Amino acid sequence: MNFKNRDVISIHDFSKQELLFILKASKSMEKKPNPNLLNGKILATLFFEPSTRTRLSFVSAMEQLGGKAIGFANASITSVKKGETLWDTMKMVENYADVIAIRHPLEGSARLAAEASSKPVINAGDGANQHPTQTMLDLYTIQKAKGKLENLHIGMLGDLKYGRTVHSLTTALSHFNPTFYFIAPEALQMPQSYLDELKEKRIKFFIESNLLKVSKKLDILYATRIQKERFPDPIEYEKYRGIYKLDTSLLPHIKKELKIMHPLPRVDEIDKSLDKTEHALYFQQAANGVHVRKALLGLVLGKIR
Ligand code: CP
Repeated sequence: MNFKNRDVISIHDFSKQELLFILKASKSMEKKPNPNLLNGKILATLFFEPSTRTRLSFVSAMEQLGGKAIGFANASITSVKKGETLWDTMKMVENYADVIAIRHPLEGSARLAAEASSKPVINAGDGANQHPTQTMLDLYTIQKAKGKLENLHIGMLGDLKYGRTVHSLTTALSHFNPTFYFIAPEALQMPQSYLDELKEKRIKFFIESNLLKVSKKLDILYATRIQKERFPDPIEYEKYRGIYKLDTSLLPHIKKELKIMHPLPRVDEIDKSLDKTEHALYFQQAANGVHVRKALLGLVLGKIR
């Protein structure tokens, strides 16, 4: 499969076969160091929004493969502050780097960035829309923990309206005959467009607000942070903050094999008392980001086929 110069903007742009190929390449990356694979190549990370995992794991992945990384973690120190457009920023950065990872608060910004750039662009999160590389590492983590992706019962919990990770992951998992349980207050439920997509694909899903009503059925519980920064009204956010807090009181209500995932950062959704239990998968999930991002960089730079 040839991914050379391919943009990674939305999970909708990837077929089941392509996703499985990326997971296979990620597994090879985890097994074998490849310290010279991207010698002489440069990654630019353009982060217009805060990040710890995504930006640092991209930089780490690039440097572990022999490449170099440039970029910014805060657009306020760039010429964007003087009014430079995203389009012009991309027209500049394409001269300085071979591949560009961008995070931006506006939905659709990564697609615009890719249109401006002659170099491959990877969406590291565009507003509440998509976070495709997070989804690829989530799939990799599920496959590794469960030994399969097919026929799983997946609970998605928290802010399903604004959480871009659950949007991308729902689409990706729909290739693998899942049963979904969307657990959220009505105002933060999964957007209708994603539910319509599932109906069209005849994927089973249940809408719920009480976790304990469905928790025993779940193989994976994917918790999310209430996305404070996306709420137009801070008073609305206050209504929902802390609405779901997972702790050891959940244990009698779940299967022994349940794995708890979270894209992180967590605020108060998962108590530290769960960290040492066999259910916690969230730190391994973040660690897997390096393997998957190594694979993606190798693929879009034409060094893995
Ligand atoms: N999961 C995730 O996107 O984390 P960061 O915001 O720290 O990059």
